[in-house]
Amino acid sequence: MSPFSKSLTWSGRRIFAACVRHHSSLTTELIENMDKKATWDRFYTENSSRTPTFENFDWFFGFNAVRDMIMPLLQTMSHPDAVLQVLDMGCGTSALGPSIYRHSPLPVRVTCADISPVAVRLMQEHVQAQAVWPHHPSSQLEFVELDCTQLDECFGLSSLDLIVDKGTTDALLRCKEGRGKAGLVLKQCLKVLRSSGSLLQFSDEDPDARLLWLETEAQDPGVLAADVGVQEVGELQGVCYYCYQVTPQPVVSK
Ligand SMILES: C[S@@+](CC[C@H](N)C(=O)[O-])C[C@H]1O[C@@H](n2cnc3c(N)ncnc32)[C@H](O)[C@@H]1O
Repeated sequence: MSPFSKSLTWSGRRIFAACVRHHSSLTTELIENMDKKATWDRFYTENSSRTPTFENFDWFFGFNAVRDMIMPLLQTMSHPDAVLQVLDMGCGTSALGPSIYRHSPLPVRVTCADISPVAVRLMQEHVQAQAVWPHHPSSQLEFVELDCTQLDECFGLSSLDLIVDKGTTDALLRCKEGRGKAGLVLKQCLKVLRSSGSLLQFSDEDPDARLLWLETEAQDPGVLAADVGVQEVGELQGVCYYCYQVTPQPVVSK
């Protein structure tokens, strides 16, 4: 069994189990209001109360499924003596950000950001209790409460090397009021990424729909330009997962 299918099967079971366990009103709230802070606060509060000790909750799949996409890309971004700046956008209580911190042989500063203060607090308490050690002694890990439609209030322009987004844009795109926010988030990512940097969106949305959306939202003549690509992550129970890579391009003035 590949690392992908192993972790995906496990996460898939957990997501299914969590949805079944959750009160149906929460499931409805989640589906209709995935762009709302209060919905996610409730989700993480109820999820954490179900287990006596903290457990990471990973949407779609865990780090091992995408390790071979993230780690080689980080290697290509290394600049001498510099700490690579990584953002896990809408981190929830996923192990993705902490895993990058633990496994990167290059020094990284991983910021895990989420709109839900409940998720952020759970992760802060978890890493304090567990003492997660980095592969590189100069690496750093932090958790911040942040609305990712306002990334530029927290990060400088062209300051980040890599942004990972596992399920966050998907959550926004799936609810009526979230679509505008998803577009804003993408534009903010392109502002705060270095020219050599990339945004990786992990998603179950079909390339026919997502590529069109990305290409439309990431282009604004004279203002914004990006290259967009896709590769398959793998399949679970008939659902195919994808990695969309968005890379800022120089803007040609009109
Ligand atoms: C589908 S979950 C994915 C969580 C995590 N990335 C994972 O893989 O398990 C979507 C996450 O996005 C967060 N979120 C939603 N809107 C957000 C926003 N505007 N800014 C930051 N985080 C947001 C939610 O709180 C939630 O944790």
